[in-house]
Amino acid sequence: MRRFDAPPDLIRRVARPDPRELVGSRQVLPSILSADYRCLGAQLEAVMGAGARLVHVDVMDGHFVPPITIGTVVVESIREQVHGAGGMLDCHLMVDNPEVQVEQFANAGADLITIQVEATPNVHYVLRQIRDAGCLAGIAINPGTPVEAVSELRDSVDLVLCMTVNPGWGGQTFIESSEDKVRRLRTTLGDDLPIQVDGGISAKTVRSVAEAGATLYVAGSAIFGAPDPAGAYREIATAAGVA
Ligand code: DX5
Ligand code: ZN
Repeated sequence: MRRFDAPPDLIRRVARPDPRELVGSRQVLPSILSADYRCLGAQLEAVMGAGARLVHVDVMDGHFVPPITIGTVVVESIREQVHGAGGMLDCHLMVDNPEVQVEQFANAGADLITIQVEATPNVHYVLRQIRDAGCLAGIAINPGTPVEAVSELRDSVDLVLCMTVNPGWGGQTFIESSEDKVRRLRTTLGDDLPIQVDGGISAKTVRSVAEAGATLYVAGSAIFGAPDPAGAYREIATAAGVA
């Protein structure tokens, strides 16, 4: 067994879906930022058993946002379990100079890499780098960043992530004006591009952003902060209209 292989009982071998198809469908994405790291494998097994196929990984560098969180070591340690269960790893880089990190995350097992539009002046370059590394590319905008910041990037990305809290911490309150922002993003981007929302998403808040046009719903504390993460996942999925 390699150093990062998950124990065999946590690995279920399921055919991997087409990444573009998966990201193009309506999905709830558990964010492991709020998971219990003493039993991360079991927590992933629970939410993937309940239907989750995209696992959201929040990477923070202590510069772009104050906390330092998850790095490639954790991505590498869960790749086999997530891929074995037919899932994909969605790495959200809240880091300055993301161009320095892309290759390392792609090598660690990331399937989708999202960078923040505020984090680099070379956005097109980094998005190209992500696709050249064989990953899908996402661009994220903070609550204070206008929709227009991503209007030129439609053809360079596979998803747009609308932050619905200021990035840096789990468990914050959903910013109500995000609903209108998602609606304006949908109008600007057209019907086809997946729009992801991240921050304060729960069974209560997900409905409004889903109706406004978001299709990918990241939830951390609402899932892993609940006594039954699988049940909480199902509740959010039902509220969002995820099949
Ligand atoms: C916030 C992160 C989120 C975080 C969301 O900076 O990008 O992905 O995990 O956590 P909740 O769902 O608890 O707001
Ligand atoms: Zn995130």
